[in-house]
Parts: sequence; C-alpha cells; structure tokens
Amino acid sequence: MLKSDVVSVMEIERTIYEYPWTAGNFNDCLESGYQCDILIFTNEIIGYAVQMKILDEVHLLNVSVAKNFQNIGVGRFFLDNLIAESKKIELKKMVLEVRRSNSPALCLYDSLGFSEIGIRKNYYPNRNGREDAIIMGATL
Ligand SMILES: CC(C)(COP(=O)(O)OP(=O)(O)OC[C@H]1O[C@@H](n2cnc3c(N)ncnc32)[C@H](O)[C@@H]1OP(=O)(O)O)[C@@H](O)C(=O)NCCC(=O)NCCS
Repeated sequence: MLKSDVVSVMEIERTIYEYPWTAGNFNDCLESGYQCDILIFTNEIIGYAVQMKILDEVHLLNVSVAKNFQNIGVGRFFLDNLIAESKKIELKKMVLEVRRSNSPALCLYDSLGFSEIGIRKNYYPNRNGREDAIIMGATL
C-alpha cells in the first residue's frame, strides 16, 4: 500500500465497517513502517491488510475485503498468503482482535488455526453501546 492508495482503501473501508478507520489511521501506519498490503484484481484494489511486527510476533490490525468480493474465498486466500509470508521471515505468532459479533471473521480465523487467547471487555463501540473484542492467536 502506498499513500496514493489510501483514497481507494478508504472507499472500501467506509462501505464495509460501521466504525471505519480514518485515512489518518492508514497514513499513520504507513509512516510508522507497519506492513500495509493491498490485494489487486484486474487493476482494482479488492482487499488490504495492516500488520505490526513486535519481535517475533505479528499483529494483524486490519484485514478487509471489498463488499463485492466477499464470501468467495478472497479473504482466505489473502490470509493464507499473509501467514505464509510471516512464516518465511520466521515470525512465530500472529495475533488479532475481532468483534464478538463478527461471525464470518471468527469462522475464518478459527478455520485458519486461530484460537481465543483473551477478551477485551467492551472494547468496540456498537449500536447498543459497546461490545467485546476477542483476542485470537495462532502459532505460525
Ligand atoms: C472477514 C473477511 C475479511 C473475510 O473475507 P471473505 O473474502 O469474505 O471470506 P472468504 O470468502 O474467504 O471465506 C472464508 C471463511 O469465512 C467465513 N465466512 C465468510 N463470509 C461469511 C458469511 N457471510 N457468513 C459466515 N461465514 C462467512 C466462512 O467460514 C468461510 O469459510 P468457507 O470458505 O469454508 O466457507 C471479509 O468478509 C471482510 O472484509 N469483512 C468485513 C471487514 C471485517 O470484518 N474484517 C475483519 C475484521 S476482524
């Protein structure tokens, strides 16, 4: 991901999240040297991910697939690749947070070998107030 991609990334981000990241969040991640990837299909960005490395762990801060490309295997393909890349550079663990209500993402992570390692109570805003974040981890 380049800074010039952030406009297109934000178009996707706004359509798929009720509480989207801001352009500033993506720019801060790029400036901080986090690993920010885009997935391109026929010249169009259809997915993106932001990862932060801490020693031999990688924290998946954002993984997203554009609405029209969801539920056809793109997310699984993308994550398989991110995991393979992390293994190549000998990272040992991947950690992420996910809303308790996000069943599609929870199913995907579970099927990729992630398991619950903790809960952040009332971490995310939602329509009813707040909801928990499930912290998941996978050994790479
Ligand atoms: C979560 C997300 C990244 C998954 O990517 P995707 O391309 O839609 O998922 P895939 O088509 O690769 O499906 C992978 C698995 O996810 C689960 N899944 C995907 N969509 C689902 C849905 N609508 N309902 C239930 N499970 C679903 C299934 O377990 C599926 O496994 P299968 O291939 O055996 O059926 C994508 O839907 C997305 O961007 N969602 C909005 C943003 C988001 O929630 N990001 C994650 C934040 S933690």
